Amino acid sequence: MNGISIGLLGLGTVGSGVVKIIKNHQDKLMHQVGCPVSIKKILVKDIHKQRAVEVDSSLVTTDPDEVINDADIDVIIEVMGGVEETKEYLLTALKNRKHVVTANKDLMAVYGSELLAVASQNGCDLFYEASVAGGIPILRGLADGLSSDRITKMMGIVNGTTNFILTKMSQQGLAYEDVLKEAQELGYAESDPTADVEGLDAARKMAILSTLGFSMNIDLDDVKVKGISSITEEDLAYGKQFGYCMKLIGIAERDGEKVEVSVQPTLLAKSHPLASVQDEYNAVYVYGEAVGETMFYGPGAGSMPTATAVVSDVVGVMKNMRLGVNGKSAVTPQYEKKLKSADEIFSKYFMRIHVKDQVGVFANITSIFSDHHVSFEKILQLPLEEAGMAEIVVVTHKAALSDYENILVQLRDLEPVHTIKSSYRVEGSVKS
Ligand code: NAP
Ligand code: HSE
Repeated sequence: MNGISIGLLGLGTVGSGVVKIIKNHQDKLMHQVGCPVSIKKILVKDIHKQRAVEVDSSLVTTDPDEVINDADIDVIIEVMGGVEETKEYLLTALKNRKHVVTANKDLMAVYGSELLAVASQNGCDLFYEASVAGGIPILRGLADGLSSDRITKMMGIVNGTTNFILTKMSQQGLAYEDVLKEAQELGYAESDPTADVEGLDAARKMAILSTLGFSMNIDLDDVKVKGISSITEEDLAYGKQFGYCMKLIGIAERDGEKVEVSVQPTLLAKSHPLASVQDEYNAVYVYGEAVGETMFYGPGAGSMPTATAVVSDVVGVMKNMRLGVNGKSAVTPQYEKKLKSADEIFSKYFMRIHVKDQVGVFANITSIFSDHHVSFEKILQLPLEEAGMAEIVVVTHKAALSDYENILVQLRDLEPVHTIKSSYRVEGSVKS
Protein backbone atom coordinates (compact mmCIF):
# COMPACT_ATOMS: atom_id res chain seq x y z
CA MET A 1 0.00 0.00 0.00
CA ASN A 2 1.35 3.47 -0.91
CA GLY A 3 -0.72 5.19 1.70
CA ILE A 4 -4.21 5.34 3.13
CA SER A 5 -6.52 8.23 2.26
CA ILE A 6 -9.18 9.18 4.72
CA GLY A 7 -12.36 11.14 4.15
CA LEU A 8 -13.50 12.82 7.35
CA LEU A 9 -17.17 13.65 7.83
CA GLY A 10 -17.19 16.30 10.60
CA LEU A 11 -14.54 18.52 12.18
CA GLY A 12 -16.07 19.27 15.57
CA THR A 13 -15.03 17.94 19.00
CA VAL A 14 -14.17 14.41 17.83
CA GLY A 15 -13.12 15.31 14.28
CA SER A 16 -10.50 17.78 15.60
CA GLY A 17 -9.10 15.06 17.85
CA VAL A 18 -8.89 12.68 14.89
CA VAL A 19 -6.89 15.23 12.88
CA LYS A 20 -4.50 15.72 15.85
CA ILE A 21 -3.94 12.00 16.42
CA ILE A 22 -3.32 11.27 12.74
CA LYS A 23 -0.78 14.11 12.66
CA ASN A 24 0.89 13.56 16.06
CA HIS A 25 0.97 9.74 16.02
CA GLN A 26 1.90 9.31 12.35
CA ASP A 27 5.10 7.37 13.24
CA LYS A 28 3.20 4.86 15.34
CA LEU A 29 0.46 4.51 12.70
CA MET A 30 3.03 3.92 9.96
CA HIS A 31 4.82 1.34 12.06
CA GLN A 32 1.59 -0.60 12.63
CA VAL A 33 0.11 -0.41 9.17
CA GLY A 34 3.23 -0.03 7.02
CA CYS A 35 2.24 3.10 5.09
CA PRO A 36 1.35 6.75 5.68
CA VAL A 37 -2.16 7.75 6.74
CA SER A 38 -3.48 11.08 5.47
CA ILE A 39 -6.74 12.99 5.42
CA LYS A 40 -7.79 13.83 1.86
CA LYS A 41 -11.07 15.67 2.40
CA ILE A 42 -13.16 16.97 5.32
CA LEU A 43 -16.89 17.60 5.21
CA VAL A 44 -18.28 20.41 7.41
CA LYS A 45 -21.44 22.47 7.54
CA ASP A 46 -19.85 25.88 7.88
CA ILE A 47 -16.64 26.37 5.92
CA HIS A 48 -15.84 29.69 7.64
CA LYS A 49 -16.03 28.42 11.21
CA GLN A 50 -12.99 28.77 13.50
CA ARG A 51 -11.57 25.28 14.15
CA ALA A 52 -9.90 23.77 17.22
CA VAL A 53 -7.20 22.36 14.95
CA GLU A 54 -5.33 23.79 11.99
CA VAL A 55 -6.19 22.19 8.64
CA ASP A 56 -5.35 23.19 5.08
CA SER A 57 -8.39 25.08 3.78
CA SER A 58 -8.22 23.13 0.48
CA LEU A 59 -9.20 19.96 2.37
CA VAL A 60 -12.44 21.37 3.73
CA THR A 61 -15.69 21.12 1.79
CA THR A 62 -19.43 21.39 2.28
CA ASP A 63 -20.14 18.96 -0.58
CA PRO A 64 -20.54 15.36 0.68
CA ASP A 65 -19.91 13.96 -2.83
CA GLU A 66 -16.34 15.24 -2.69
CA VAL A 67 -15.79 12.82 0.18
CA ILE A 68 -18.02 9.79 -0.19
CA ASN A 69 -17.69 9.57 -3.99
CA ASP A 70 -13.95 10.28 -4.24
CA ALA A 71 -12.42 7.15 -5.77
CA ASP A 72 -9.08 7.78 -4.03
CA ILE A 73 -10.51 7.71 -0.51
CA ASP A 74 -10.14 4.32 1.22
CA VAL A 75 -11.71 4.94 4.63
CA ILE A 76 -14.54 7.23 5.71
CA ILE A 77 -14.47 8.44 9.31
CA GLU A 78 -17.94 9.61 10.30
CA VAL A 79 -17.90 12.02 13.24
CA MET A 80 -20.63 14.42 12.16
CA GLY A 81 -23.56 12.89 14.06
CA GLY A 82 -27.15 12.73 12.81
CA VAL A 83 -29.08 9.72 11.61
CA GLU A 84 -31.05 9.67 8.33
CA GLU A 85 -28.81 11.83 6.14
CA THR A 86 -25.69 10.29 7.69
CA LYS A 87 -26.98 6.79 7.03
CA GLU A 88 -27.40 7.65 3.34
CA TYR A 89 -23.83 8.99 3.18
CA LEU A 90 -22.48 5.83 4.77
CA LEU A 91 -24.53 3.52 2.54
CA THR A 92 -23.14 5.34 -0.50
CA ALA A 93 -19.61 5.10 0.89
CA LEU A 94 -19.97 1.36 1.58
CA LYS A 95 -21.42 0.72 -1.87
CA ASN A 96 -18.39 2.61 -3.21
CA ARG A 97 -16.34 0.00 -1.30
CA LYS A 98 -15.00 2.39 1.30
CA HIS A 99 -14.46 1.14 4.81
CA VAL A 100 -16.30 3.09 7.49
CA VAL A 101 -15.39 4.04 11.04
CA THR A 102 -18.05 5.84 13.07
CA ALA A 103 -18.52 7.24 16.58
CA ASN A 104 -22.26 7.59 16.02
CA LYS A 105 -24.34 5.64 18.56
CA ASP A 106 -27.59 7.31 17.46
CA LEU A 107 -27.05 5.77 14.03
CA MET A 108 -25.64 2.40 15.12
CA ALA A 109 -28.37 1.80 17.72
CA VAL A 110 -31.04 2.12 15.03
CA TYR A 111 -29.42 1.09 11.74
CA GLY A 112 -26.38 -0.87 12.94
CA SER A 113 -27.48 -4.29 11.66
CA GLU A 114 -28.52 -2.90 8.24
CA LEU A 115 -25.24 -1.01 7.80
CA LEU A 116 -23.16 -3.99 8.96
CA ALA A 117 -24.93 -6.21 6.43
CA VAL A 118 -24.26 -3.76 3.58
CA ALA A 119 -20.62 -3.45 4.72
CA SER A 120 -20.11 -7.18 4.64
CA GLN A 121 -21.90 -7.55 1.24
CA ASN A 122 -19.40 -5.05 -0.15
CA GLY A 123 -16.33 -6.57 1.50
CA CYS A 124 -15.93 -3.55 3.75
CA ASP A 125 -15.25 -3.08 7.44
CA LEU A 126 -17.64 -1.02 9.55
CA PHE A 127 -16.15 -0.36 12.97
CA TYR A 128 -17.82 1.67 15.72
CA GLU A 129 -15.76 1.32 18.90
CA ALA A 130 -16.10 5.02 19.81
CA SER A 131 -19.90 4.81 19.78
CA VAL A 132 -19.94 3.21 23.25
CA ALA A 133 -17.99 4.65 26.18
CA GLY A 134 -15.68 6.88 24.09
CA GLY A 135 -12.05 5.91 24.71
CA ILE A 136 -12.74 2.58 26.44
CA PRO A 137 -12.16 -0.41 24.13
CA ILE A 138 -15.28 -2.19 25.38
CA LEU A 139 -16.64 -3.41 22.03
CA ARG A 140 -13.32 -5.05 21.16
CA GLY A 141 -13.19 -6.33 24.74
CA LEU A 142 -16.51 -8.13 24.20
CA ALA A 143 -15.94 -9.17 20.58
CA ASP A 144 -12.34 -10.37 21.06
CA GLY A 145 -11.13 -10.60 24.66
CA LEU A 146 -14.30 -12.23 26.02
CA SER A 147 -15.44 -13.96 22.85
CA SER A 148 -15.07 -17.44 24.34
CA ASP A 149 -17.26 -16.67 27.36
CA ARG A 150 -21.01 -16.42 27.90
CA ILE A 151 -21.83 -12.93 29.19
CA THR A 152 -24.68 -12.86 31.70
CA LYS A 153 -24.62 -9.31 33.03
CA MET A 154 -23.39 -5.92 31.90
CA MET A 155 -23.77 -2.78 33.96
CA GLY A 156 -22.57 0.45 32.46
CA ILE A 157 -21.98 4.04 33.38
CA VAL A 158 -21.98 4.91 29.70
CA ASN A 159 -22.92 8.57 29.69
CA GLY A 160 -20.20 10.99 30.79
CA THR A 161 -22.48 14.03 31.04
CA THR A 162 -24.86 12.48 33.58
CA ASN A 163 -22.04 10.95 35.62
CA PHE A 164 -20.38 14.37 35.71
CA ILE A 165 -23.65 16.02 36.82
CA LEU A 166 -24.44 13.43 39.53
CA THR A 167 -20.86 13.50 40.86
CA LYS A 168 -20.77 17.30 41.16
CA MET A 169 -24.29 17.46 42.63
CA SER A 170 -23.59 14.88 45.30
CA GLN A 171 -19.97 15.77 46.15
CA GLN A 172 -20.08 19.56 45.87
CA GLY A 173 -23.79 20.25 46.30
CA LEU A 174 -23.86 22.12 42.96
CA ALA A 175 -27.15 22.83 41.16
CA TYR A 176 -28.21 20.56 38.28
CA GLU A 177 -28.45 23.40 35.68
CA ASP A 178 -24.99 24.81 36.53
CA VAL A 179 -23.25 21.44 36.21
CA LEU A 180 -25.07 20.63 32.96
CA LYS A 181 -23.80 23.93 31.52
CA GLU A 182 -20.25 23.03 32.55
CA ALA A 183 -20.57 19.57 30.92
CA GLN A 184 -21.70 21.27 27.70
CA GLU A 185 -18.76 23.70 27.79
CA LEU A 186 -16.34 20.81 28.29
CA GLY A 187 -17.70 19.06 25.16
CA TYR A 188 -19.16 16.01 26.98
CA ALA A 189 -22.82 16.72 26.31
CA GLU A 190 -24.56 16.25 22.96
CA SER A 191 -25.51 19.48 21.11
CA ASP A 192 -29.02 18.92 22.49
CA PRO A 193 -28.31 17.54 25.99
CA THR A 194 -31.86 16.14 26.35
CA ALA A 195 -30.60 12.79 25.05
CA ASP A 196 -27.93 12.75 27.77
CA VAL A 197 -30.04 13.74 30.77
CA GLU A 198 -33.13 11.75 29.77
CA GLY A 199 -31.10 8.56 29.37
CA LEU A 200 -31.54 8.11 25.62
CA ASP A 201 -27.82 8.42 24.83
CA ALA A 202 -27.07 5.69 27.40
CA ALA A 203 -29.96 3.59 26.05
CA ARG A 204 -28.48 3.70 22.54
CA LYS A 205 -25.13 2.55 23.93
CA MET A 206 -26.79 -0.24 25.94
CA ALA A 207 -28.63 -1.43 22.80
CA ILE A 208 -25.28 -1.64 20.98
CA LEU A 209 -23.53 -3.29 23.96
CA SER A 210 -26.21 -5.87 24.64
CA THR A 211 -26.55 -6.77 20.95
CA LEU A 212 -22.85 -7.58 20.94
CA GLY A 213 -22.55 -9.02 24.45
CA PHE A 214 -25.63 -11.28 24.24
CA SER A 215 -25.31 -11.95 20.47
CA MET A 216 -28.97 -11.00 20.07
CA ASN A 217 -30.49 -8.11 18.08
CA ILE A 218 -31.55 -5.68 20.84
CA ASP A 219 -33.39 -2.66 19.44
CA LEU A 220 -33.48 0.75 21.05
CA ASP A 221 -37.20 0.22 21.76
CA ASP A 222 -36.33 -2.84 23.86
CA VAL A 223 -34.42 -0.67 26.35
CA LYS A 224 -36.53 0.76 29.20
CA VAL A 225 -35.34 4.31 29.85
CA LYS A 226 -35.54 6.82 32.68
CA GLY A 227 -33.26 9.86 32.95
CA ILE A 228 -31.80 11.95 35.78
CA SER A 229 -33.65 15.25 35.39
CA SER A 230 -36.05 14.63 38.29
CA ILE A 231 -33.44 13.52 40.86
CA THR A 232 -33.50 15.79 43.89
CA GLU A 233 -30.97 16.75 46.58
CA GLU A 234 -33.14 14.84 49.10
CA ASP A 235 -32.81 11.63 47.06
CA LEU A 236 -29.03 12.01 46.98
CA ALA A 237 -28.94 12.73 50.73
CA TYR A 238 -31.06 9.68 51.64
CA GLY A 239 -28.97 7.55 49.29
CA LYS A 240 -25.82 8.68 51.10
CA GLN A 241 -27.39 8.10 54.52
CA PHE A 242 -28.26 4.52 53.52
CA GLY A 243 -24.75 3.86 52.10
CA TYR A 244 -25.55 4.25 48.39
CA CYS A 245 -24.53 6.63 45.63
CA MET A 246 -26.73 7.65 42.71
CA LYS A 247 -25.59 6.73 39.19
CA LEU A 248 -27.31 6.52 35.82
CA ILE A 249 -26.80 2.82 35.17
CA GLY A 250 -27.46 0.78 32.06
CA ILE A 251 -28.27 -2.77 33.08
CA ALA A 252 -28.34 -5.70 30.67
CA GLU A 253 -28.96 -9.06 32.29
CA ARG A 254 -29.50 -12.54 30.87
CA ASP A 255 -31.21 -15.44 32.66
CA GLY A 256 -31.28 -18.55 30.50
CA GLU A 257 -32.53 -17.45 27.09
CA LYS A 258 -34.20 -14.23 28.23
CA VAL A 259 -32.74 -10.76 28.69
CA GLU A 260 -33.66 -7.39 30.17
CA VAL A 261 -32.06 -4.10 29.21
CA SER A 262 -32.72 -0.78 30.95
CA VAL A 263 -31.21 2.58 31.73
CA GLN A 264 -32.27 4.22 34.96
CA PRO A 265 -30.99 6.25 37.91
CA THR A 266 -29.86 3.61 40.36
CA LEU A 267 -28.80 3.70 43.98
CA LEU A 268 -25.60 1.73 43.97
CA ALA A 269 -24.01 0.27 47.10
CA LYS A 270 -20.78 2.17 47.75
CA SER A 271 -18.91 -1.16 47.75
CA HIS A 272 -19.89 -1.86 44.11
CA PRO A 273 -16.97 -1.44 41.66
CA LEU A 274 -18.99 1.08 39.61
CA ALA A 275 -19.56 3.34 42.64
CA SER A 276 -16.01 4.68 42.42
CA VAL A 277 -16.49 5.91 38.83
CA GLN A 278 -16.63 9.69 39.12
CA ASP A 279 -16.97 12.81 36.96
CA GLU A 280 -17.16 12.26 33.19
CA TYR A 281 -15.55 8.84 33.44
CA ASN A 282 -17.36 5.77 32.11
CA ALA A 283 -17.08 2.14 33.08
CA VAL A 284 -18.67 -1.09 31.99
CA TYR A 285 -18.88 -3.94 34.47
CA VAL A 286 -19.13 -7.27 32.65
CA TYR A 287 -19.92 -10.59 34.26
CA GLY A 288 -19.10 -13.71 32.26
CA GLU A 289 -19.90 -17.27 33.36
CA ALA A 290 -16.27 -18.32 33.05
CA VAL A 291 -14.30 -15.14 33.62
CA GLY A 292 -16.43 -13.83 36.51
CA GLU A 293 -16.27 -10.09 37.24
CA THR A 294 -14.42 -7.68 34.96
CA MET A 295 -14.58 -3.91 34.64
CA PHE A 296 -13.54 -1.65 31.77
CA TYR A 297 -12.87 1.92 32.90
CA GLY A 298 -11.82 5.16 31.24
CA PRO A 299 -12.86 8.43 29.64
CA GLY A 300 -16.22 8.02 27.94
CA ALA A 301 -16.31 11.33 26.12
CA GLY A 302 -14.19 14.24 24.99
CA SER A 303 -12.14 15.01 21.93
CA MET A 304 -8.90 13.04 22.33
CA PRO A 305 -10.23 9.91 24.14
CA THR A 306 -12.99 9.45 21.57
CA ALA A 307 -10.63 10.16 18.68
CA THR A 308 -8.25 7.50 20.04
CA ALA A 309 -10.96 4.86 19.63
CA VAL A 310 -11.80 6.17 16.16
CA VAL A 311 -8.22 6.11 14.88
CA SER A 312 -7.60 2.70 16.47
CA ASP A 313 -10.54 1.43 14.40
CA VAL A 314 -8.80 2.82 11.32
CA VAL A 315 -5.71 0.81 12.29
CA GLY A 316 -7.99 -2.25 12.53
CA VAL A 317 -9.29 -1.60 9.01
CA MET A 318 -5.75 -1.27 7.69
CA LYS A 319 -4.55 -4.46 9.35
CA ASN A 320 -7.48 -6.25 7.71
CA MET A 321 -6.51 -4.69 4.37
CA ARG A 322 -3.02 -6.16 4.66
CA LEU A 323 -4.50 -9.56 5.46
CA GLY A 324 -7.19 -9.23 2.78
CA VAL A 325 -10.00 -9.96 5.25
CA ASN A 326 -12.04 -6.74 5.24
CA GLY A 327 -15.76 -7.25 5.79
CA LYS A 328 -15.28 -10.70 7.32
CA SER A 329 -15.03 -9.88 11.03
CA ALA A 330 -18.65 -8.92 11.81
CA VAL A 331 -20.51 -11.81 13.47
CA THR A 332 -24.28 -11.95 12.95
CA PRO A 333 -26.33 -12.45 16.17
CA GLN A 334 -26.53 -16.09 17.25
CA TYR A 335 -29.75 -16.00 19.30
CA GLU A 336 -33.33 -15.01 18.70
CA LYS A 337 -34.38 -12.07 20.88
CA LYS A 338 -36.34 -13.05 23.99
CA LEU A 339 -37.14 -10.30 26.49
CA LYS A 340 -38.05 -10.90 30.12
CA SER A 341 -41.52 -9.87 31.26
CA ALA A 342 -42.03 -7.71 34.38
CA ASP A 343 -42.60 -10.78 36.59
CA GLU A 344 -39.18 -12.14 35.53
CA ILE A 345 -37.20 -9.00 36.43
CA PHE A 346 -36.03 -8.90 40.04
CA SER A 347 -34.42 -6.03 41.88
CA LYS A 348 -34.34 -4.06 45.11
CA TYR A 349 -36.07 -0.66 45.12
CA PHE A 350 -35.88 2.65 46.99
CA MET A 351 -39.08 4.65 47.49
CA ARG A 352 -39.76 7.99 49.18
CA ILE A 353 -43.38 8.84 49.98
CA HIS A 354 -45.13 11.84 51.57
CA VAL A 355 -48.15 10.80 53.62
CA LYS A 356 -50.62 12.19 56.13
CA ASP A 357 -49.24 11.60 59.62
CA GLN A 358 -52.30 9.72 60.94
CA VAL A 359 -52.94 6.60 62.99
CA GLY A 360 -52.84 3.46 60.82
CA VAL A 361 -51.24 4.98 57.70
CA PHE A 362 -47.90 3.31 58.27
CA ALA A 363 -49.66 -0.04 58.76
CA ASN A 364 -51.74 0.50 55.58
CA ILE A 365 -48.64 1.16 53.56
CA THR A 366 -46.65 -1.77 54.89
CA SER A 367 -49.59 -4.10 54.29
CA ILE A 368 -49.67 -3.11 50.58
CA PHE A 369 -46.04 -4.20 50.34
CA SER A 370 -46.64 -7.46 52.21
CA ASP A 371 -49.76 -8.23 50.10
CA HIS A 372 -47.37 -8.28 47.13
CA HIS A 373 -44.77 -10.40 48.96
CA VAL A 374 -42.28 -7.54 49.10
CA SER A 375 -40.33 -7.12 52.32
CA PHE A 376 -38.25 -4.21 53.60
CA GLU A 377 -34.51 -4.09 53.94
CA LYS A 378 -34.73 -0.59 55.49
CA ILE A 379 -37.62 1.64 56.47
CA LEU A 380 -37.70 5.11 57.99
CA GLN A 381 -40.45 7.54 58.97
CA LEU A 382 -39.74 11.20 59.72
CA PRO A 383 -42.02 14.18 60.36
CA LEU A 384 -42.10 16.83 57.62
CA GLU A 385 -42.03 20.60 58.24
CA GLU A 386 -45.54 20.80 56.80
CA ALA A 387 -47.91 20.17 59.73
CA GLY A 388 -49.58 16.77 59.81
CA MET A 389 -47.34 15.27 57.13
CA ALA A 390 -44.61 12.63 57.29
CA GLU A 391 -42.03 11.18 54.96
CA ILE A 392 -41.57 7.42 54.63
CA VAL A 393 -38.42 6.10 53.00
CA VAL A 394 -37.97 2.42 52.20
CA VAL A 395 -35.45 0.12 50.59
CA THR A 396 -37.00 -3.22 49.68
CA HIS A 397 -35.50 -6.65 49.43
CA LYS A 398 -35.48 -8.13 45.92
CA ALA A 399 -38.92 -8.03 44.35
CA ALA A 400 -40.48 -8.78 40.99
CA LEU A 401 -40.91 -5.60 38.92
CA SER A 402 -44.57 -6.52 38.32
CA ASP A 403 -45.22 -6.64 42.10
CA TYR A 404 -43.37 -3.38 42.66
CA GLU A 405 -45.34 -1.64 39.88
CA ASN A 406 -48.62 -2.87 41.40
CA ILE A 407 -47.53 -1.48 44.78
CA LEU A 408 -46.93 1.93 43.17
CA VAL A 409 -50.42 1.86 41.61
CA GLN A 410 -52.09 0.98 44.93
CA LEU A 411 -50.10 3.56 46.88
CA ARG A 412 -51.11 6.30 44.42
CA ASP A 413 -54.75 5.37 45.04
CA LEU A 414 -54.41 5.37 48.84
CA GLU A 415 -56.04 8.51 50.25
CA PRO A 416 -53.45 9.37 52.96
CA VAL A 417 -50.62 9.12 50.42
CA HIS A 418 -49.96 12.66 49.23
CA THR A 419 -47.11 12.04 46.75
CA ILE A 420 -44.69 9.34 45.74
CA LYS A 421 -41.69 11.65 45.68
CA SER A 422 -39.23 9.22 44.11
CA SER A 423 -38.60 5.62 43.23
CA TYR A 424 -35.30 4.07 42.10
CA ARG A 425 -33.77 0.71 41.44
CA VAL A 426 -31.15 -0.36 44.01
CA GLU A 427 -28.09 -2.49 43.19
CA GLY A 428 -25.83 -4.13 45.73
CA SER A 429 -26.05 -4.52 49.49
CA VAL A 430 -24.92 -2.24 52.25
CA LYS A 431 -23.81 -3.85 55.50
CA SER A 432 -24.96 -1.69 58.40
P1 NAP B 1 -19.75 18.26 16.95
O1 NAP B 1 -18.70 18.87 17.79
O2 NAP B 1 -21.09 18.90 16.92
O3 NAP B 1 -19.18 18.18 15.45
C1 NAP B 1 -19.95 17.77 14.36
C2 NAP B 1 -19.21 18.12 13.08
O4 NAP B 1 -19.91 17.62 11.98
C3 NAP B 1 -19.05 19.62 12.84
O5 NAP B 1 -17.79 19.88 12.30
C4 NAP B 1 -20.15 19.95 11.84
O6 NAP B 1 -19.78 20.99 10.95
C5 NAP B 1 -20.23 18.66 11.07
N1 NAP B 1 -21.58 18.41 10.56
C6 NAP B 1 -22.68 18.13 11.30
N2 NAP B 1 -23.74 17.93 10.51
C7 NAP B 1 -23.30 18.11 9.25
C8 NAP B 1 -23.92 18.05 7.97
N3 NAP B 1 -25.22 17.80 7.83
N4 NAP B 1 -23.15 18.25 6.87
C9 NAP B 1 -21.84 18.54 6.99
N5 NAP B 1 -21.19 18.61 8.18
C10 NAP B 1 -21.92 18.39 9.27
O7 NAP B 1 -19.97 16.74 17.33
P2 NAP B 1 -18.96 15.78 18.12
O8 NAP B 1 -19.09 16.01 19.59
O9 NAP B 1 -17.61 15.83 17.51
O10 NAP B 1 -19.65 14.36 17.86
C11 NAP B 1 -19.54 13.73 16.62
C12 NAP B 1 -20.10 12.30 16.72
O11 NAP B 1 -19.35 11.55 17.66
C13 NAP B 1 -21.55 12.22 17.18
O12 NAP B 1 -22.16 11.12 16.56
C14 NAP B 1 -21.42 11.97 18.67
O13 NAP B 1 -22.54 11.34 19.24
C15 NAP B 1 -20.22 11.05 18.69
N6 NAP B 1 -19.47 11.02 19.93
C16 NAP B 1 -19.09 12.19 20.53
C17 NAP B 1 -18.35 12.15 21.70
C18 NAP B 1 -17.90 13.41 22.38
O14 NAP B 1 -17.28 13.31 23.45
N7 NAP B 1 -18.16 14.59 21.84
C19 NAP B 1 -18.00 10.92 22.25
C20 NAP B 1 -18.39 9.73 21.60
C21 NAP B 1 -19.12 9.80 20.44
P3 NAP B 1 -19.55 22.49 11.47
O15 NAP B 1 -18.37 22.42 12.39
O16 NAP B 1 -19.24 23.27 10.24
O17 NAP B 1 -20.80 22.91 12.17
N1 HSE C 1 -22.76 12.92 25.35
C1 HSE C 1 -22.04 11.71 25.49
C2 HSE C 1 -21.71 11.51 26.95
C3 HSE C 1 -20.77 11.75 24.67
O1 HSE C 1 -21.92 12.42 27.75
O2 HSE C 1 -21.30 10.41 27.33
C4 HSE C 1 -20.12 10.42 24.52
O3 HSE C 1 -20.90 9.52 23.80
